[in-house]
Formats: sequence, structure tokens, C-alpha cells
Amino acid sequence: MTVHFIGAGPGAPDLITIRGRDLIAACPVCLYAGSLVPEALLAHCPPGARIVNTAPLSLDQIIGEIATAHAAGQDVARLHSGDLSVWSAMGEQLRRLREIGIPYDVTPGVPSFAAAAATLGAELTLPGIAQSVILTRTSGRASAMPEGETLQNFARTGATLAIHLSVHVLDRVVADLTPHYGADCPVAVVWRASWPDQRVVKATLATLETAVGAEMERTALILVGRAIGAEDFDESRLYAGDYDRRYRPVGTHPRFPGT
Ligand SMILES: C[S@@+](CC[C@H](N)C(=O)[O-])C[C@H]1O[C@@H](n2cnc3c(N)ncnc32)[C@H](O)[C@@H]1O
Repeated sequence: MTVHFIGAGPGAPDLITIRGRDLIAACPVCLYAGSLVPEALLAHCPPGARIVNTAPLSLDQIIGEIATAHAAGQDVARLHSGDLSVWSAMGEQLRRLREIGIPYDVTPGVPSFAAAAATLGAELTLPGIAQSVILTRTSGRASAMPEGETLQNFARTGATLAIHLSVHVLDRVVADLTPHYGADCPVAVVWRASWPDQRVVKATLATLETAVGAEMERTALILVGRAIGAEDFDESRLYAGDYDRRYRPVGTHPRFPGT
């Protein structure tokens, strides 16, 4: 018996991996984080599967469901939105499973920052502008931010910021970032990327709050940085005609002859 933790992707039911879909189809028990996991994915469960929305459950109750399946020798598909490596509460579940000796594995999913970038048709790492993406959030009721992980500190790097769980505190985001990025820095907010009702607002730090208005939906990602919507950036050297590389040797003395 194994608990399969599966990244369910950002919302569109076809943005799950084939491995994830096949695991759902093979498991007689499916636990899903109801608030963000698309219900359409549950159609992959086998007939008669026990399907449990864990949104109203405590960690103890979730582990109880898993322990019951384990005692019955039934594999479990455990679905969380996006990818499991960020803000999934997977870590605490895995620790409990290690403590009680229940085997598990992890199948990655499409994270929301990638879905939001795809919605924008944007590369977040443009040569000469930004070569790093920082996935972050602001502090919330359930999770305080560790000291040092402040928006101001991240802003000092000039990297592209993908700010999660924060669309309800835009005033703080704007106040923290403007001194570092400048008021004219581009920002995009993508709500429910890849869902049928996805929505995008493009603005600058100066115009962001007015552009967003009183939008109440919180499932949104804020992308900030000079790479957002930029046209004036260098081409990458990788595809330059004179760039000598392993798969396209150039010149009389290529660095990788004959490979
Ligand atoms: C609890 S976190 C889950 C993150 C998820 N594990 C991931 O890989 O993106 C929820 C936050 O992720 C962001 N998010 C999740 N799905 C999204 C989507 N489809 N579009 C925009 N933002 C999304 C929002 O900032 C939301 O408040």
C-alpha cells in the first residue's frame, strides 16, 4: 500500500501529468484538497472509489483516513493544487507517515506561477533583465513569514517576483516594492490561471491598486518585475549563430569537436 501525493495542477483538468492521472485511476481511495483541486479530476477515480474532500478535515482526520486505507491495503491518491513543493502542507503529512511507517511517493504538478506565466505568454527570465524568479508570499493568519524573508529583501535582488496568497494586501505589496523596482515597474495579476474564468490585469506598481479595484477572488498570483511584458531585452547567446556549443559546433576549432 502506498500514498501517492499528486500535484493536481493549477485548475484546468488536463494540466495534470499522465502519471498523476493514471495513479488516480488506480487508487480505490482519493483524498483531495477541495478548495483548489478541480472536481473534474475526480472523474478519473475508479468506480466505487472512496472520495474525500479534505478541506474541512484536520491533519489528524486526514492521517486517520490514510491509516484506515493502509489497514485495508488500499492505495491512496492524495491530490493538492499546483505542485506539491510549495504551500501544499505536504511536509507535515509526510512526516506523520514516516512516523507511522506508511509508504508514500510524490508526483509533481504544474505550479500556479507557471500557469500564470503561460496565461501571459511570458518568459520570467529574460536575458539582461532578470535571471531569477522568487516564489514568495506575504504573511497570513496560518503562516508567519520567517525573519529575513521580506518583500523588501527580495526586491533588492531585482528578480522577477511571483507573489502568492497576497492579492488581498496589494497596498502592502506596492508600498514594499516601489522603492526598489520603481513606480513604473510592470505588474500582472492573474486570477485562477487556466480555469475557464481566469482573469488578468496588467498595470504598474503605481496603477495596480486602481486597476485591480475591489476584486474579491483571492486565488491570484502577482507577478512583478522588469521582465513582465518587456520587449527590450537581449537575445540569449544559446541560439546565436556564432555561439559554439556541443550540439552545434561552430568555427575551425570547436570546443566540443565530434560530439
Ligand atoms: C495554498 S497556495 C498553493 C500553491 C500551489 N501548490 C502551487 O503550486 O502553485 C494557493 C495560492 O497559489 C496561487 N494559485 C493557486 N492556483 C492558482 C491559479 N490557478 N491562478 C493563480 N494563482 C493561483 C494563489 O496565490 C493562491 O492563493
